[in-house]
Amino acid sequence: MSRRVLVPLLLCLSGCGGAPPAGPVVIRFLEAPDVGGGWHAIIDRFEAQSPGIRVDLVEGPPSTDTREEMYAAAFLGGDASYDLVYMDVPWVPKFAARGWLRTLDARLPAAARAAFLPADLAGSTYRGHLFRVPMQTDAGMLYYRSDLVPRAPETFDELVRMARAAQAPPERWGFVFEGLQYEGLVTTFLEVLWGYGGRVIDDDGRVVLDSPAAERALEWMAGLVGTIAPRAVTAYQEEDARQAFQEGRAVFMRNWPYAWTLLQKPDSPVAGKVGIAPMPHAPGAESAATLGGWGFGIAASTPHPDEAWRFIAFATSADEQKVLHFRNGRIPTRRALFDDPAILAESPYYRSLLPVLLAARPRPVHPRYAEISAAIQRHVSAALVGRETPAGALRAAADEIRAIVGER
Ligand code: GLC
Repeated sequence: MSRRVLVPLLLCLSGCGGAPPAGPVVIRFLEAPDVGGGWHAIIDRFEAQSPGIRVDLVEGPPSTDTREEMYAAAFLGGDASYDLVYMDVPWVPKFAARGWLRTLDARLPAAARAAFLPADLAGSTYRGHLFRVPMQTDAGMLYYRSDLVPRAPETFDELVRMARAAQAPPERWGFVFEGLQYEGLVTTFLEVLWGYGGRVIDDDGRVVLDSPAAERALEWMAGLVGTIAPRAVTAYQEEDARQAFQEGRAVFMRNWPYAWTLLQKPDSPVAGKVGIAPMPHAPGAESAATLGGWGFGIAASTPHPDEAWRFIAFATSADEQKVLHFRNGRIPTRRALFDDPAILAESPYYRSLLPVLLAARPRPVHPRYAEISAAIQRHVSAALVGRETPAGALRAAADEIRAIVGER
């Protein structure tokens, strides 16, 4: 093609002026499969009141790690597939530091921010700028079969004792949790680690994952596999654990609160037989929940930031958070919804959930969190399947994390 033809064509591609683009503006985001149909309901309601905008939900793989890689691959490859970025809380520092997000400082004024739970907002902020609007929050909880055990256990050892007494393997195991080598394993491991008084990184920034407390935590966890947890637990993600528990194949389960709504559906064999409580802890230490949760950012690469914002403002409103709650069980991030009569009628435990959420602890906040997590995933998983000893696994993970965060 001669230069004379190419130049006008390039100019034209970058905005020919004149006729507006034909058809609606399409804004796209990637999320997990829409179990419950809440996202489709929200998008239908938005499109009905927003002529000219279409929202394209890409239902991707259930694992957060894989979806993070998909977003990262798109941004690294300079491909503008995603206008909205539906982000897990630990992704925020990396995505912001890489310049993949627009700041939302001017779009969400301070008064509007005050309506959200503080930890979710803190997790949406990087170096003083807001990059995400929280849509749903999360904190790890212990579920128990209230028809099989009289109450929730307080301590880790009590959980094991109660599980042994009530289990009947292989039909019904004592405990199921997220044991696969992926992010869900890290969130569960942290709850055990913290529950034993351990840390990954201390307040002075030193990596302390190879402490005696951490060793006790990982020994406890590795000791579950094949005794009160099925060996297959090392291949479980959230939904595998939820299905096992819902089918009556487990006495206890560690999972996020979304499972509650699904467990109580009329066709659930355990409806009405489920209790939910904070995670157990070691004697003398405190129960801890990992802070999870998701929210929307706007991709730096989108040509449609205003349309993207219109959808964010709509979806994160109280009404739409309720839709996602009732359909998919997701927990709202707006504090006022914890007093909402309709939500409390359906999920009475929400009153006791609020203190757990307010105390939920973040994973290490670092732009290289994905690598920190990968080191924990690899070695904790190796300990669960018996390929590494708990002490060896923690030493190796701690050394890798020291190299990642630059500690000598
Ligand atoms: C849930 C949490 C998220 C966490 C993930 C791990 O989706 O909300 O924060 O990373 O589970 O599997």
